[in-house]
Amino acid sequence: MGMRLHGTMRINGRGRLEIGGIEAAELARRFGTPLYVLDEELFRQNCRDYHRHFTEKYGAEVIYAGKTLINLAVCRLVEEEGLGLDVASGGELYTAIKARFPMHRVYFHGNNKSPGEIKMALEAGVGRFMADNLQELLVLNSLAGEMKTRADVIIRLTPGIEAHTHEYVKTGQIDSKFGLAIQTGQAEEGVRAALRLENIRLRGLHCHIGSQIFELGSYVHAVDVMMDFAGKIKRETGWTPEEIDLGGGLGIYYAEGDNPPPVSEYADLVMARLKMKSAEHGMETPRLMVEPGRSVSGPAGCTIYTVGTVKEIPGVRKYVAVDGGMADNPRHALYQARYEAVLANKAGLPPAEVVSVAGKCCESGDMLIRDIALPAAEPGDILVVSCTGAYNYTMSMNYNRLPRPAMVLVRGGRADLIVKREDYEDLVRNDVIPDRLRKSGLAGVASAR
Ligand SMILES: Cc1ncc(COP(=O)(O)O)c(C=O)c1O
Repeated sequence: MGMRLHGTMRINGRGRLEIGGIEAAELARRFGTPLYVLDEELFRQNCRDYHRHFTEKYGAEVIYAGKTLINLAVCRLVEEEGLGLDVASGGELYTAIKARFPMHRVYFHGNNKSPGEIKMALEAGVGRFMADNLQELLVLNSLAGEMKTRADVIIRLTPGIEAHTHEYVKTGQIDSKFGLAIQTGQAEEGVRAALRLENIRLRGLHCHIGSQIFELGSYVHAVDVMMDFAGKIKRETGWTPEEIDLGGGLGIYYAEGDNPPPVSEYADLVMARLKMKSAEHGMETPRLMVEPGRSVSGPAGCTIYTVGTVKEIPGVRKYVAVDGGMADNPRHALYQARYEAVLANKAGLPPAEVVSVAGKCCESGDMLIRDIALPAAEPGDILVVSCTGAYNYTMSMNYNRLPRPAMVLVRGGRADLIVKREDYEDLVRNDVIPDRLRKSGLAGVASAR
């Protein structure tokens, strides 16, 4: 099996891979490698898919999860496509502010928001604080009071649902650092506190049950648990949620065997269930909100690498090393994530051997793909890994002092730089040599001469 082609990817008449109407090898020549590439058409199409099936059909709010991929240009795309933006730190919020993203469409998440971040968000006028715990509610209430304002709040609950996905991306179970658990009574305590606090306007309830989810039944279960909780609160306090936010999590195709359901099915199913459960509890149907991240940005991104060392261990494995790796894509090292890839300059050739794609970091776990069939790889070949749009750039690091790659936005034969490549100077920009070490440094330089 070759790599599945996503969005505007195609193999042209010369047997080369193109993205957005430009050969990957040409992008590599112009911008260097490793290089993140964002397919503008596909990114926009994924936004529109959600907008059409959730917003236009049901008036639901679609909030793009910035943690998957955020920078100034991406904020502009999200804004243009009419989605909201989920930010989970002061840095993500700052990016949204710098991009002039409309603040009333910003949703501020995080399990440990600092008072400084809360103040920043109050000053910016974010649309909603997604309160994660009681402590946060109290700090938010007092800071909002000092600033003579009221904060619109949605409380994040832990519904106690075990979504069928990787341990590290499960978030709905009780033993989670996120949210207030329904089963322990803490969720109810949080709601009652929010209703008492004078500088807080409680708008709704939130949950996020995990990521890379393929079974829509998990969302139906989440609606049931959330609405049964809302029903209980209504009976006890009279309060009903105006908004129910089901978080993100819809899975995507990375490699053979991944079978994500269509967004339309997801929308129809949860909306029908939400209406049913609202009626059951004698409530108006709350406004639905969803926070897709990976399913918007993931398939729209790919990464271009140059092949370096090719090493065969006879009878064991052939390693094809590329000029990036876990520093620009830590997902295989973190979650054993699977990917597909193609040799872009040999995309018309049939596979000749099974190899493993390694990075260049000093870690044996620095692998991108284990066991993939490719044409014979040689130094200088251009390797493209697909579906790297989510949790790659935003999780990238400078391990081994590798400068972070550039990112380009491609569309209709045009490529625009949207993130500059870091250089070595960027790597030492924030390093400081204290005075007491300066002398020894000079001595070292002198003796080196
Ligand atoms: C609160 C919240 N919303 C949305 C998302 C986005 O999830 P995904 O990228 O799986 O759609 C996450 C991911 O961790 C999250 O924590």
